[in-house]
Amino acid sequence: MVNRRRKDRKIDRLHELRDLSHQGGGQAKIDSQHKRGKLTARERIHLFLDEGSFEELDSFVTQDIQNIEDSGNQILGDAVITGFGTVNGETVFVYSQDFTVFGGSLSEAVAQKICKIMDLALQNGCPVVGLIDSGGARIQEGVSSLAGYGDIFLRNTMASGVIPQISVILGPAAGGATYSPALTDFIFMVSGVGQMYITGPDVIKAVTGEQVTHEDLGGAASHSSISGVSHFRFDSEEECLKQVRRLLTFIPSNNMEEPVIRETSDELEEPDTELERIVPEDPNQPYDVMDVIGRLIDQGDFMEIHHSWAKNIVVGFAKIAGQSVGIVGQQPEHLAGSLDIDASVKAARFIRFCDSFNIPLLTLIDVPGFMPGTAQEYGGIIRHGAKLIYAYAEATVPKISVLLRKAYGGAYIVMSSKMLGGDINYAWPTGEIAVMGAEGAVNIIHGKEIKSAQDPEKLKSERIEQYRQKLMNPYVAASKGLIDAVIDPSETRIKIISALKMLSNKRDSLPIKKHGSIPL
Ligand code: HXC
Repeated sequence: MVNRRRKDRKIDRLHELRDLSHQGGGQAKIDSQHKRGKLTARERIHLFLDEGSFEELDSFVTQDIQNIEDSGNQILGDAVITGFGTVNGETVFVYSQDFTVFGGSLSEAVAQKICKIMDLALQNGCPVVGLIDSGGARIQEGVSSLAGYGDIFLRNTMASGVIPQISVILGPAAGGATYSPALTDFIFMVSGVGQMYITGPDVIKAVTGEQVTHEDLGGAASHSSISGVSHFRFDSEEECLKQVRRLLTFIPSNNMEEPVIRETSDELEEPDTELERIVPEDPNQPYDVMDVIGRLIDQGDFMEIHHSWAKNIVVGFAKIAGQSVGIVGQQPEHLAGSLDIDASVKAARFIRFCDSFNIPLLTLIDVPGFMPGTAQEYGGIIRHGAKLIYAYAEATVPKISVLLRKAYGGAYIVMSSKMLGGDINYAWPTGEIAVMGAEGAVNIIHGKEIKSAQDPEKLKSERIEQYRQKLMNPYVAASKGLIDAVIDPSETRIKIISALKMLSNKRDSLPIKKHGSIPL
């Protein structure tokens, strides 16, 4: 009887301690978090994971009190909640920074908790999702907290390309604290809630005199449309976490996993005559490439990445006949779909992610060339465009392309061409491959002849027409095997499905090397 009572007391003590750790920084701080329109770290985890699946680790870890003057401030679990659970039934590791405890700042103990779950995730081949809400390094701990960031950065880098890493910015991420998210694969932000910057508005004002608000400097709008740091932007935490779950349905848990294939009810074999109507024959007429993508994929379900940044190229995930694919396509509605610095970087990064995680690439091509101008040249379009070449050339996943309309100059070579290892290169009859557009070409090769002609305008039109007839079609490339087949647009989805099936056992490898030297 006595033993039983003692045991009960021990179990009661466990529950007391658990309750204590669940309180984080206390009710007043929780209320203040809610008043700011923010969820607490624990509410976020429960919203994110499958119901009832969260298994918490290290809830009794505390900060190193020897370095803190006020040892009464010791809080069980410190400023982060860590553990694992499931998303759509698959194991995911998660950490959620708790702003109610020292503003979610990173102490040595917090860093150790995060590193522990990163190590577990890497050993067990599962994604890691970080919910970030932190004032950065714990100021009172000095070098220990800085070292903690270093430990996390190292793990971010080691895990890169092995397990997917996702960061969700749900509060401040200041200074070096931005670099762990930056090393991960995808950054999600919530408008008005998440803010990332290396130096805050006060420091900027002191150093450069420039005045800017926290939101304008590092809010979701700035990072999703100007800097490209953020891949996704949503208006509420609920929607944002739902979309992180959605992203995980397109990607495998690790780099050794087979491509993600799910049952689909979508009609597989039906020709689609609508496709040719969407793309105008005139290469200068714009259209929305999203309309093309929507008709090629299962249930029209496309998870677009970087929706508001470098809009001249579209990248994102979809399923085709149940198989996850990464889609890259020019967007003729923006900058005529030309390749510029941002578009090159956006697509290159996406291609490398897909290649790391065995996700086949589908490229939809309609590109007038690289963007001309001093802004682009001085900004290093040569270096940044080279990243896109490098990414396509190095990718060993199945690479399927469809030339919808034009592919001029270097941009033709870049976009998953046969020479860069494209496995299947299809073209629509509207496809045109040439060094440049007809008018520019005629001005260069027939300029003198046209100037000295009796009727220069007439001769120019004739020469343009001859050039078009001779070179501006897909058949020259098809005659050289650089296009594998010219296809009727209506059969595009069927052809892509066959190609994916044919390439499903593709084996390819790179020469042995430590790693390449991508032009960063
Ligand atoms: C310890 C911190 C803290 C920190 C915030 N707090 N940041 N405690 N270390 N880094 C505490 C505050 O003292 C406060 O405690 C509580 O968290 C909430 O902070 P507030 O300032 O009241 O909140 P708010 O007004 O919303 O402002 C949030 C904030 C601001 C923008 C994050 O706190 C801030 O600027 N903090 C410092 C940010 C920073 O410079 N961090 C270092 C970056 S450099 P009480 O008890 O009063 O509620 C860095 C180096 C990493 O991180 C290097 C890696 C290589």
